Formats: sequence, structure tokens, C-alpha cells
Amino acid sequence: MRVGYSYLQRQFAQPDEILEQIRALVTTGQYTLGPAVEQFEQAFASFLGVRHAIGVANGTDALMLSLKALGIGQGDEVITAASTFVATVGAIQAAGARPVLVDVTPYFTLDPARIERAITPRTKAILPVHLTGDVADMEAIRELASCRGLAVVEDACQAIGATYHGQPAGGMGACGAFSLHPLKNLNVWGDGGVIVTNDAALNERLRLLRNHGLQGRNEIALLGYNSRLDTLQAIVGNWLMTHLPDINQRRIDNAAAYDVAFGAMAGDLALPPRRPGIRRVFHLYQVYARDRDALFEYLLAQGIEAKIHYPIPLPLQRGLAHLGYKRGDFPEAERQSTSLITVPVDQHLTSEERAYVVEMIRTFYGNR
Ligand SMILES: Cc1ncc(COP(=O)(O)O)c(C=O)c1O
Repeated sequence: MRVGYSYLQRQFAQPDEILEQIRALVTTGQYTLGPAVEQFEQAFASFLGVRHAIGVANGTDALMLSLKALGIGQGDEVITAASTFVATVGAIQAAGARPVLVDVTPYFTLDPARIERAITPRTKAILPVHLTGDVADMEAIRELASCRGLAVVEDACQAIGATYHGQPAGGMGACGAFSLHPLKNLNVWGDGGVIVTNDAALNERLRLLRNHGLQGRNEIALLGYNSRLDTLQAIVGNWLMTHLPDINQRRIDNAAAYDVAFGAMAGDLALPPRRPGIRRVFHLYQVYARDRDALFEYLLAQGIEAKIHYPIPLPLQRGLAHLGYKRGDFPEAERQSTSLITVPVDQHLTSEERAYVVEMIRTFYGNR
């Protein structure tokens, strides 16, 4: 059996409904912003239960523009997680600020207990990442931020639909950033991103920033960027919004089945802590594995496209050398890079495929 990582061909096996709407758009000639983007923004905001959603070009821009809208830039520092996709750190730098990394918890998110000592007089914001679709400890993070007068910007790129004691991931800070990249839970046919906020002034500023600062056709209110959500992608997004609850639920169900199977393999596998009150949407399913590298090779040889997120800890990457971190600075992120394995959990994974993944992992450890 082959268990692939990408499910995109399955997801878009019947694209006619979307193509029909794209065909209709092409005849209108309205290729930037317009009703499809507005409809998507409204659906997104109402799905999350937030006041405003602003469609932008991608998740990286969603983070960068959020920081810009908050007036964060040159000379400022932004605290974020040492284990994340590189875009989080890239967006902070693109805004002109200095990324300051803090180690993570065993459930992959910014560790609140380690934030305080990273705060300096230049710190302007804390940027928790809801990695894998789990949610950072927002109560502690928000409390700390409010005591120290810092903004909170959430990287919810992997966490659409996740909740923290009933509150939506992305909807608890000043701004929340989402990615619509093809391998995200809500995924379009290329790149796309969304910023959400409950603040009317930020909403206005973000709408200006994403579109050259243009107010109407002829007035420039501020110097901005070209970072509009593509109208074609908004059409795909509108179609997907109706499927999103089901997409997330299927991932949650797959993860629950894995949790039962893997939970019974203590000694070989260890589940990340599952905190109560959190709805994880499993953009990724990761588990701690003994002999991780050998297991990874074995699964690939059995036709299971497992992954490693991330084999090189981000602070030790060559491209981040200017930040001055060294081995030993982030013990938890380093431990995760040698012990976590990712297995397919997507909404199209069949129960036979899931059972095969479990069986092959059992076989691997049984043979050792
Ligand atoms: C945690 C995280 N932050 C930011 C991004 C950036 O999103 P995008 O690829 O849409 O720019 C991604 C995804 O790629 C991500 O996983």
C-alpha cells in the first residue's frame, strides 16, 4: 500500500463547480479584489466569530502586515517560538524588526515560562505560533503581554478552526494571521492569506497596507504594499469554506484514532501532552518516536510518506546565523528535531491507510 502525504489530487478530483465560477469571473474582467474576495472575507470572519477578516497574498504577508499595522519595525524586537516554519521569523525581519526566539513546550508552542527573560526595552510584541494546529498557552501569554504593554500577534497559519477554551486561534490577539497555502487545512490553488482582527482601526489600516495605501482611486493615505488576496483564489476559498468543518473534523477523528493506537505503544512512542479545553485541528500529526530516523526510513520503504518537521532546528539554520544562536540555546526545540515524526492525518486518509500506518509502526518496533 502507498500512503502519500499530499492529498490535493483527491481533494480537487472534481473541480467543475470551482471552474464554473472562475469561468464566470473571467467574463466580468474584475480580476482584483471584488465581490468574491468580500464574500470570502465575510465567510472567514463569521466562521471564526471575529469582526474583520482581510484577504492578503499569503500567510507571511499576513504576519508582516499585522506587525506593520501595529507600528512595529526598525529598532523593535518581536518574541516568537524557536520551533516554527521559517516564514514566522522571516515576516518579523521583513517588517524591519529583530526576531527574538524563545524555546517551546513539548506540545510545540511558545513556552510562556521562558518569555519574561527574553523581554528587553525594545520588545514590542509577542508572536505565538499555533504550530501543527495545537494552540499556544494564550492565557499566560496575553497576561504577560498586557502586564508589559506588548502587542500579541498570533501566527495561526496552521490552526484555522482550532480553539482555546472556546476562543478561536487567531482571534485572541490584536491580529491573527492565516495561510491558505495548498497544504493547509483551508487550502487554495496557490498562495493566499488572511488577517483577522476585532479592532476597527487596525482593520482600516490593514486594508490600506495590502493595497498600496490607496483610498479610492487617486488618494494615497499611507505607503503600502501590493498584497491583495487573488480573486481567483478567493473563489476557491469560498468553495472550501463550506467544507472546512468537515475537513477539520476528519483530521481530528484520524488523530484520535492514532492517539489510541500510539498511546498503547509507550516506550517506543510518546504522544505530545494533550491539554484539556483545546480543540486541535491537526494540520500535522506528530509523535515522539524512539529510533526516529530508522523508523522514518522504514516507513518510507513501506510506501508511507512520513515527514520530519523540522530536521534542523530553526535557530541553527545557516540563514539565521546573524541572530547569533548556538546549539544548546533551545533544548526543547533541539530535542524535537531529533525525536518527532509526522505521519499523514489529512481528511482524505482512509481508515485502511491509517491502519496500515499503525501496523507498519508496530511491525518496526516488534522487529527490534
Ligand atoms: C507556522 C507558519 N507561519 C507562516 C506560514 C507562511 O504562510 P505562507 O506560506 O502562506 O506565506 C506558514 C506556512 O507556510 C506556517 O506554517
